[in-house]
Order: sequence, then structure tokens, then C-alpha cells
Amino acid sequence: MRRLFPVTDQTAAAETTEGAPGGGDREWSLAELAAAYAYPEPEPEPEPEPDHGPGGGGPGVWLRANMVSTLDGAAQHDGRSQPISSAADMRIFGTLRALADVVVVGAETVRQEGYRPARARAEFAAARQAAGQGPVPAIAVVSAGLGLDFSLPLFTSPLVPTLVLTGAAAPADRVAAAERAGARVVVAGDGPGVDPARAVAALATLGHRRLLTEGGPRLLGQFVAAGVLDELCLTVSPLLTAGDAQRIAGGPSVAVPRRFELASLLEEEGFLFSRYRRV
Ligand SMILES: NC(=O)c1ccc[n+]([C@@H]2O[C@H](COP(=O)([O-])OP(=O)(O)OC[C@H]3O[C@@H](n4cnc5c(N)ncnc54)[C@H](OP(=O)(O)O)[C@@H]3O)[C@@H](O)[C@H]2O)c1
Repeated sequence: MRRLFPVTDQTAAAETTEGAPGGGDREWSLAELAAAYAYPEPEPEPEPEPDHGPGGGGPGVWLRANMVSTLDGAAQHDGRSQPISSAADMRIFGTLRALADVVVVGAETVRQEGYRPARARAEFAAARQAAGQGPVPAIAVVSAGLGLDFSLPLFTSPLVPTLVLTGAAAPADRVAAAERAGARVVVAGDGPGVDPARAVAALATLGHRRLLTEGGPRLLGQFVAAGVLDELCLTVSPLLTAGDAQRIAGGPSVAVPRRFELASLLEEEGFLFSRYRRV
């Protein structure tokens, strides 16, 4: 792993100093990755600008997305993201989870990727405790129809209860099934669906400040459109797939493209690991 941006005197020196912390073309420790991807310290939010939408969950709440894309913009291959990922990408995926209070994910990704509960990792236990976090992030599944298999371990045996974000008009029998399985149902919309900004606010009300969404594209597109996405961690994999795969964010396009700025760029084996923050 090498840091390509920002390059400081320290990271430039580390490129040529074997084993030096902060850079160099070698595998980074999980602690180094965690430092590279630390959530920003909370600071008071300025008044939201009109074209930035209604804002997120209030001061101190940070919504980050983590997605992987091929060179030609595919967000999946054969219906999954694993074929376009890499070992380094999975290390960053795990690190981002370990930093988060909650992982927000669309129901289709849960169904297609066979989501399991987050697992506790000894390497991150002390840091999570020091940050006042539980042993793992809660998984929050966004669904309108609640056509989910509530007998799966994701719902029946997570270390912290799985959340189900849905709308007030969600089918009552499915809400009951989710709750019977042990999930916590959170209403964040007046109809069957979830309002993205309300979802962020509802998670903040539950004490979740460091939010991570792992997509999928239909859910991410709504966070983008609602103007509540603060950061995109995007892996670009050196692959071309052609075909008609989804891009990382879908749905109707926004009226004015949202501007993000590059915060950091890492590289390993031709994979680029970027962090873009909302301007
Ligand atoms: N490249 C990557 O980084 C990446 C990341 C994640 C996923 N993926 C891939 O993306 C594909 C799945 O993504 P997707 O975009 O099709 O689906 P998705 O965003 O994961 O899930 C869509 C589902 O989420 C629920 N949903 C979304 N918005 C909602 C709202 N506002 N209110 C209530 N429910 C809402 C609905 O569930 P119900 O139908 O239950 O109502 C909807 O069908 C898979 O192939 C996966 O492998 C790739």
C-alpha cells in the first residue's frame, strides 16, 4: 500500500524507507488503515446551504459511503461486488466497519450478498471501547416491503441488535416478524419507504454519529439526492467488465452535480483507494 495523496515530507520519505510508518509499498497494519480513515472530530455544523438539501442528522453526524467500482463504472459483476474487489479492498472494508457506529445497507444488497452480522475483531476492540462504541457496528437494513428472511443470523444472532429502517406504512405482519426475530424496527418515513434524511436523523437520535453506508447503488443514490452524504470512500479496481451493471449510485439524477474534494488516495496492486469529502 502506498499513499499517493496527500504526500507530505513524512509520507514521501516513507516511500524510500522500508518499514517506516505512514507510507511505503508494503502492507499497512490495521491501525495504520484506521488512522488513515478516521472519522472527523465532531464540530458544529454551519447553516445548510439551500442546494445541499436538508442536511443530515445534525452536528457531529457524518455519513460515509464505501463502494467499489471497475474502471468502466460497474458496481458489481454477476450480481456481487466480490469479483471486483481485492484483499486490500476487503481490509479497508473491514477497517471502515470497525470505525463505524452503524452500517446502513439496502435490502437488495443484504439479499444478494447474503449479509451476516458484523463480527467482533480483537484488533479493533480497544479502540472501539475507547471511542465509546459497542463491540461491533449495528447493521441497519433499509427496506420498504420487509421481504427479508428474518430467520437469518443477521437478525437472530448479531452481537448488537440489527436495525430495520422502514416507513410507517410498512406491512404490519412483516414488522412483527422482524421484531420477533430480535430486530429493532425504526420508522423513518411516512409512507412505505424511508426518507433518507430522516433515516440519518433517526440513527443520530439512537446515538449513532459515525455512519457508514455500504450501498447498494439504489440506496446510495437517494443519500446523494437528499444531500446527506458527507464522504465517499471509493475503490477503483483495475478491471473492465462492459455489460449493463449498475453504477455505484442510481436513481434519478440530481439537478446540480454535487461537488466533492479529494481527501486522500492510496494505491495497492493497481487498485486506487480514494476518499472524497463533500465541499
Ligand atoms: N460496488 C459496491 O460497492 C456495491 C455495494 C453494495 C452493493 N453492491 C451491489 O449492488 C446490488 C444491489 O444494490 P441495489 O442498488 O440493487 O439495491 P440496494 O440499494 O442494496 O437495495 C434496494 C432495496 O433497498 C430498499 N430501499 C432502498 N431505498 C429505500 C427507501 N427509500 N425506503 C425503503 N426501502 C428502500 C428496498 O428494499 P425492499 O425491496 O425490501 O423494499 C429496495 O428494493 C448487488 O448486486 C450488490 O452486489 C455493490
